[in-house]
Amino acid sequence: MKTIFRILGILLGSLVVLLLIGATFIHFRGIPQYPVNAPEVKVELDSARIARGEHLAAMVCANCHRGDDGALSGRKLFDIPKMFGEIHSANITQHPVKGIGSYTDGELVYLLRTGIKRNGQYSPTYMPKFVHMSDEDIYSVIAYLRSDALAVQAADKATVPCKPSLFTKFLTMTPAFKPFPMPEKPIEAPDRSDEVAYGKYIVHGAVECYSCHSADFTKINTMEPEKSLGYMGGGNTLLDPEGNPVLSANITLHPENGIGNWTLTQFTQAIRTGQRPDGKPLSEAMPKFTVLTDEEISAMWAFMKTIPVSDNKVKRTWEQ
Ligand code: HEC
Ligand code: HEC
Repeated sequence: MKTIFRILGILLGSLVVLLLIGATFIHFRGIPQYPVNAPEVKVELDSARIARGEHLAAMVCANCHRGDDGALSGRKLFDIPKMFGEIHSANITQHPVKGIGSYTDGELVYLLRTGIKRNGQYSPTYMPKFVHMSDEDIYSVIAYLRSDALAVQAADKATVPCKPSLFTKFLTMTPAFKPFPMPEKPIEAPDRSDEVAYGKYIVHGAVECYSCHSADFTKINTMEPEKSLGYMGGGNTLLDPEGNPVLSANITLHPENGIGNWTLTQFTQAIRTGQRPDGKPLSEAMPKFTVLTDEEISAMWAFMKTIPVSDNKVKRTWEQ
């Protein structure tokens, strides 16, 4: 008996030592570096592109990158659960050193598609990768970032480096947290007259509603969003500005557990103003999409009617 316990003790001890060595390795290895194979791209600025880029940036990038100064100068992201670390978005104004003034257009395309920054460092899940966004929309965002718009003029504010947790560093060793390949073929947005396809493009490719609205950030399938765990059925943990957890809602059209009994008008009101049909205000963990047009919202709604209904019952903050 004694020997068995001694052997077990030694085995257990070795396991603990191995785990410690592993954790130390992951901690010091940090977020991995990759080669930067930026494409040769020169984005021509024209007023249509800049306007489209401004719309996309207001809808997508500003939710994370808008600082207290109103510019895209970066801020602390309060809604990301602590288990991923302390996360700050970057200053993406035109400042040559503190912003992204020295990125080439190709390097921006490369980052937005693959997740690899100009310095070769991979950006984990807290900076989304826009693998489904059309080439033209990516160029439009870049045109806007280069434009005379007030929000992108050089802000003299240093980006606070993210402090990714050991868990995030560990995840970058798994397939889910690896850079995405550069698309091999041109990507085009569907025609706006095809409401369902255009709605899908917004929900998957531009605003990425599905990412917050699935079950778990670590089980997101970016290439095939429908295959994300609990796709659109909610339950993913976000934080409100006070640091309290808020679970994302089930936004499939389930009559009780989702939003199946809502009208398009009620859906529009909720996503623009944060007000539910029953009058309950949504937490700030759900961004207010004030700039989405009626056309875009109606397209999203048309698409959402086509996705499989989830009966996942999410525990809402007012039920606790
Ligand atoms: C969910 C939040 C979020 C959204 C949405 C988002 N970003 Fe970011 N972004 C981040 C974070 C966090 C970082 C810092 C990542 C890091 O340190 O690795 C970052 C980093 C960047 C960088 C790298 C800056 C540098 O110093 O190398 C660029 C460029 C950028 N974002 C552009 C954009 C653009 C353009 C959009 C919209 C199309 C966008 N981001 C949308 C969170 C976000
Ligand atoms: C940053 C994460 C995030 C993103 C991105 C996001 N949501 Fe949400 N959403 C939430 C959270 C969290 C809640 C729950 C808020 C609460 O319970 O107070 C929510 C709630 C909702 C609700 C209310 C449902 C209900 O039953 O109360 C709707 C509708 C909704 N989101 C639609 C969308 C759509 C459409 C998009 C894309 C345009 C989107 N969301 C993008 C986090 C997000």
